[in-house]
Amino acid sequence: MKAVIYNGPYDVKVKDVPDAKIVRPTDVLVRITTTNICGSDLHMYEGRTSFEQGRILGHENMGEVVEIGSGVERIKVGDYVCLPFNIGCGFCENCEKGLTGYCLTANPGTAGAAYGFAEMGSWEGGQAELLRVPFADFNCLVLPPDAAEKEDDYVMLSDIFPTGWHATELAGLKPGESVAIYGAGPVGLMAAHSAIIKGASQVFVVDTHKDRLALAEKLGATAINAVGDEAVQKILDLTDGRGTDCGCECVGYQCCNKHGHEDNSVTMNSLVASTKATGGIGVVGVFVPQDPGASSDLAKEGKMPFDFGSFWFKGQAIRTGQANVKAYNRQLSRLIHQGKASPGDIISHRLSLAEAPAGYKHFDDRDEGWTKVILKP
Ligand SMILES: NC(=O)c1ccc[n+]([C@@H]2O[C@H](COP(=O)([O-])OP(=O)(O)OC[C@H]3O[C@@H](n4cnc5c(N)ncnc54)[C@H](O)[C@@H]3O)[C@@H](O)[C@H]2O)c1
Ligand SMILES: [Zn+2]
Ligand SMILES: [Zn+2]
Repeated sequence: MKAVIYNGPYDVKVKDVPDAKIVRPTDVLVRITTTNICGSDLHMYEGRTSFEQGRILGHENMGEVVEIGSGVERIKVGDYVCLPFNIGCGFCENCEKGLTGYCLTANPGTAGAAYGFAEMGSWEGGQAELLRVPFADFNCLVLPPDAAEKEDDYVMLSDIFPTGWHATELAGLKPGESVAIYGAGPVGLMAAHSAIIKGASQVFVVDTHKDRLALAEKLGATAINAVGDEAVQKILDLTDGRGTDCGCECVGYQCCNKHGHEDNSVTMNSLVASTKATGGIGVVGVFVPQDPGASSDLAKEGKMPFDFGSFWFKGQAIRTGQANVKAYNRQLSRLIHQGKASPGDIISHRLSLAEAPAGYKHFDDRDEGWTKVILKP
């Protein structure tokens, strides 16, 4: 089969590799129909993770089940399924609680597993023609009958729509409240879409890319074209100096200051400053324990100069981490089915697998108009 392989920093290749196959009786084999490039892939693409050369990328996957293992009970050949990017077993202590982003079985020794992802186990990715799905009865979300028609919306259930929703959950957003979302990448845009569906009164989206901010406005949010202190001031001005009820971090450790230089503390300190006293801050942007490629010594050790005094004085709360996709994907699929959510509206490019290297480059360069890239193997 053809697959997108990580070949080294800023280098992905489409190669012929052995077909994915069923290994355990609880696996199914999926013929991938859509697989997305994610901002998380870019951390790997840029060589800023321990992702091994030669591995297949891709954790935002959907497709048709073409073969089932002998122990599979629920899933049938021909089902259209969307796969949560995190792999859960369904029976460990964390999966039992719905915390499938922190499965204790699928990546032994660590909490959390995913397809084609650094530090998340050896599972191959789905930017390929076929994908092996483990613990398939648990992991597969069988899609409604309009699966093919709304494919480009449903594929967003693999990651960014539940992740955006999770950001607003971690922040504690309630109907009628205001929220500032840092980052207008796909995840930030999905957090804005979620906040609006949840009935937020004011939704601010912070970034400096005009095309991405235009999408935020199309979703019904207020664009804040600035970063750092300038963004904070604009948000304070628009909230009577109080700040928003809560805030979301949707950028991660490669966030930039106003000069466009990486500084991993910018968004977290902006959030403390632009969130009201007692407000919640939800962090889904990825931060890492080690970052050898960082420019500062602190950041190399996964640390940052954080305004803890202001944070404490304001009595704020921070919650972080991977989205537990399975906690939300079924309900969000119903919003799509009923026409109440359309996460696919942010897609800018639909490419073939062969075009993946160009897709990675343009998306990584944040080229004008490259807001979300999906691949059709
Ligand atoms: N927690 C999870 O489960 C989960 C799931 C998916 C993605 N992620 C992470 O979410 C983050 C965002 O993903 P994405 O696909 O939207 O990525 P992306 O790289 O496409 O978007 C990030 C955006 O942040 C903007 N930005 C940079 N510095 C900023 C600043 N100081 N203030 C405001 N905006 C700033 C960039 O201009 C860019 O538009 C990544 O770290 C990704 O790994 C986490
Ligand atoms: Zn993703
Ligand atoms: Zn588990």
